[in-house]
Amino acid sequence: MYNSALHHQINRSLQEFDLDISGRDNAFYARYLTNAADILSLYTKLYGHHPRGMELFTGLLGAISSAYAKRDPVLQQKDLQKPEHWFLSNKITGMSLYVDRFCGNLRNLEDKMDYFRSLGVNFLHLMPIFKSPADESDGGYAVSDFREVDPRFGNLEDLIHLRREMDRESMYLMIDIVLNHTSNRHQWAEKARQGDRKYQQFFYMYDDRLVPDSFEQSMPEIFPESSPGSFTWVPECEKWVMTVFHHYQWDLNYTNPEVLIAMLENIFFYANLGVDILRIDAPAFIWKQLGTTCQNLPEAHTLLRLIKQCVLVACPGMALLGEAIVAPAAIIEYFGSGDYLARECDFAYNATQMALQWDALATGNTKIMLAAQHEILRKPYGTSWITYTRCHDDIGLGYDDYMITQSGFNAYEHRKFLKEYYSGVFHGSPARGALFSVNPKTQDARISGSLASLCGLEKALQENNVQQTELSIRKIILMQAHSFFLGGIPMLFYGDEAGYTNDYSYLNDPAKSYDNRWMHRPVIDWEKNRRTAQEGTIESRIFSETSRLIALRGELPMVADHRNLIWMSPHNIHVAGYMRSEKGRILFCLFNFTPQNALLTWYAFKEYGPVSSTLYDHWERKSHKIGKDHEHMVLKPYGFYLLEPVWETE
Ligand code: GLC
Ligand code: GLC
Repeated sequence: MYNSALHHQINRSLQEFDLDISGRDNAFYARYLTNAADILSLYTKLYGHHPRGMELFTGLLGAISSAYAKRDPVLQQKDLQKPEHWFLSNKITGMSLYVDRFCGNLRNLEDKMDYFRSLGVNFLHLMPIFKSPADESDGGYAVSDFREVDPRFGNLEDLIHLRREMDRESMYLMIDIVLNHTSNRHQWAEKARQGDRKYQQFFYMYDDRLVPDSFEQSMPEIFPESSPGSFTWVPECEKWVMTVFHHYQWDLNYTNPEVLIAMLENIFFYANLGVDILRIDAPAFIWKQLGTTCQNLPEAHTLLRLIKQCVLVACPGMALLGEAIVAPAAIIEYFGSGDYLARECDFAYNATQMALQWDALATGNTKIMLAAQHEILRKPYGTSWITYTRCHDDIGLGYDDYMITQSGFNAYEHRKFLKEYYSGVFHGSPARGALFSVNPKTQDARISGSLASLCGLEKALQENNVQQTELSIRKIILMQAHSFFLGGIPMLFYGDEAGYTNDYSYLNDPAKSYDNRWMHRPVIDWEKNRRTAQEGTIESRIFSETSRLIALRGELPMVADHRNLIWMSPHNIHVAGYMRSEKGRILFCLFNFTPQNALLTWYAFKEYGPVSSTLYDHWERKSHKIGKDHEHMVLKPYGFYLLEPVWETE
């Protein structure tokens, strides 16, 4: 409904800027008016009862107006030119990397453009580069200044320079906004520590254990080994502060609208650097309420929807990725629901599928993967996944127990097997990983380890076992292929393209030794990476097959994420099969998750309507004649096919 008071408020917030709302800036003004009612209603839902809520709403509008006014006209132009769902394309492939561990600093990254080009990567996720205390940084996720680049990486000028260089290469950029917490050395935390009431209200601070104790009754611990509990004592101000992650990461209090506005300004600051996708770190945690797990609360979604609508007005070219690594049904909620369906986060990590790939690889069985698809497929049109096999974090076996039970396994025993398998404890396991954050009370644990080590390459090389080396390389490529073709933007983790095994040097660094996720965050040795170009080396095998997969993806329009995925009937439970289609073209993607040959009846291809007599495999570049139903196609150990029906032209 039209709200003239709101319209006036918007006009007032624009007054101080030199905008041409009937001309050049008209599209922005129209977006503002279209979305303002939603912005107000989402804001009121959260802050309607806050004593200063409505007074501070002016500050929110001010932040939006000023963000647009300060936006580089080139970016404003790009906002208008980007097709609505630009990110569903099959032509974007990303890599996530630590700038310092990859190549030292931001300037050096500019010299790596050839490397990205030869691999086919045109989208970079730079792991946190803003200021963070070296000794207590959580890999940069404890931010002490949201606007200053940490001198370790360079400075803001370098980032802007890199952005321009990436533009020339038509590359996309992603960085993080660490929304849930700040470092305990952020100036807000420093002021709170010194007793400043205003800033104490930026955090959850309590004089005694009363509230913290009640919170802790229902809040699961995130790092039970290295940072047990969810509160930390601050002796300077004699208060307990909420610290869900590490004791040096103070949770921001979003029940205070000033916190939201301040963080929204930081979001706009990143948007105006030319960020294409903003990774919202740990969004599941941003709202807390006594008596709950303090994860995935409805208010967290309201907050994200509010942020999304503000971004849509000021900088619509920037998409949002919600890093919600939670249960399958809970992840889907980050795409929005009800009136806000597909109007919350544009992206989420397909963490369920990622974990299920590891499940299938260990068990050689795809049942649980299939049992989870009804949840994963609920993703609304116009939103997309980041698909991946590994990232900087641990692998959590976060899918539901019922999915395991339905598949005929005991959930506790099954998870126990997976943990033992990947930590290499299980007899005969080829994997070399480790358990992360074992909870002594529940025995819950997640898994650390690099793609190559978890796939057996580390052990095979140590034992000089040629056959196992071959199998592990096949597993690496199988895992990548399975995630590349599923729909969404594949995100490689740096080092995986060259087969990096675990790096144990973190154990000698006291700032890292308490956190074994560092074992899979390698320091790149460019001598080793040069071998990616030397035929016959393991590095070149993995690199060239990875890059061929990326190139193939780009050539096959069926792979774009247009809600065009169907899981094939499981005629052989060891084989995962899905079908992608687009404008009459079909791609059957089939993956053998076992170390033996797997047979698949040719009938498998005939269930989806008329089929040609020939299938062309884009991977091995070979044609296969479709046989009779009682005959089989053979998939090699950890082999896969990317098959397109070829119709004979008359
Ligand atoms: C996210 C990051 C993880 C970090 C945590 C706390 O989950 O991916 O690395 O430890 O947030 O910021
Ligand atoms: C965040 C992620 C979780 C991860 C943790 C630490 O909480 O949601 O999956 O295990 O960070 O890495």
